[in-house]
Amino acid sequence: MACTGYPGEAWGRRRVNPINQSRKRMNLMLEALAAQPADALLGLIKLYNADPRADKIDLGVGVYRTASGATPVFAAIKSAEARLLETQDSKSYLGPDGDMGFVTALIPYVFGAEFDRARVDGMQAPGGTGAVRLAVEVAARAGVKRVFMGTPSWPNHAQIIAASGLELVPFAHVTPEGTADFAALVAALNTAGPGDAVLLHGCCHNPSGVDYTGQQWDAIAPLLAQRKVLPLLDLAYQGLGEGMEADAYGLRTVLAAVPEALVAYSCDKNFGLYRDRVGAFYAVTGDAGALTRAMANGAAIARASWSMPPDHGAAAVRLVLEDAALTAQWLNELDDMRARIREVRDRLAAAQRVGSVPMAPVGNQNGLFSILPLSPAQILALREDHGVYMAGSGRINIAGLTGDNIEPFLTALRAVTA
Ligand code: LMR
Repeated sequence: MACTGYPGEAWGRRRVNPINQSRKRMNLMLEALAAQPADALLGLIKLYNADPRADKIDLGVGVYRTASGATPVFAAIKSAEARLLETQDSKSYLGPDGDMGFVTALIPYVFGAEFDRARVDGMQAPGGTGAVRLAVEVAARAGVKRVFMGTPSWPNHAQIIAASGLELVPFAHVTPEGTADFAALVAALNTAGPGDAVLLHGCCHNPSGVDYTGQQWDAIAPLLAQRKVLPLLDLAYQGLGEGMEADAYGLRTVLAAVPEALVAYSCDKNFGLYRDRVGAFYAVTGDAGALTRAMANGAAIARASWSMPPDHGAAAVRLVLEDAALTAQWLNELDDMRARIREVRDRLAAAQRVGSVPMAPVGNQNGLFSILPLSPAQILALREDHGVYMAGSGRINIAGLTGDNIEPFLTALRAVTA
């Protein structure tokens, strides 16, 4: 049908787009957008999927894998999902807080059975990322200007801090020997004060696997209180390091010493819910009014961002935690994951040195990740010549190694570093 008067008519006839011709004069807004690099870690998933080699090895994004390389849905979650399907009678809105039964059910696991419930309130968030974003944004609204953070860290931490308009003050997280750089943390905290926050990984440090020891947490906690710095505690891998209780030691020690803190929690790994995006944001303070305001600010940020978090995964976690048999099943599954990660770590550590890479430190680290000291050229050669995919930082996902691929991986590592 002819559409008289519409510029496209002339465009169709002459095959020239008049909009293109006058582009420069039109001051088009979107043309001013700066190009953005694709997220390197998530880009790796696509590169890996596109690689046709049957013996390729995925040590990239942080998902748990079984000894046969699968990332199955937890059996406890499957049962909870079946129950949810049967009993859920509405999908009506819940509000920006999400499923508060889920948020409350997690409290004893995160904060301890004895924790004073009057000090804490929380809300659901879309995954660990949503929870960190809420924590950083609420900190910014509370007047925080700088966030101290050990580096390297999970790349999204720096992005979220920048996107929230805060200044990142980095300090070293790892010593050259592959242990936690406690002295660097203390030196950094000694330059921090009111108006500053410090972001600390509760356990299973991402990307290094290097955690502070219990003794170090015992010293960090009073120092945080003394410096009047707001702790932002990110607990995304509880249960994958030394156990649910042990992995909460740092967080609980800090909370026993400081008057206030913000906590970002993720169930994406310890309930295997990755794509369902299940997280929680908690504020801890002794002041009831401040607690209410922290949550009200979190709700306002959520409303303007995602409005309400996705429900399904959090509802499934709540059902697991409300049922003693499902809870026991979930904890068993988590024990198996942790045992497998430990087994792979022990095997790698037993190699002592592979090519130029010292492997012994891997045995003392925790959780899904460790960093191998590799150059960008070696990381590229591992990918292109041997089909081994890892983050550009040299981070490997320990759970990506299986009985079948661990030897080929070590051979490839030796080949590129010899
Ligand atoms: C990772 O670090 O691989 C995971 O936490 C996934 C992510 O969102 O980056």
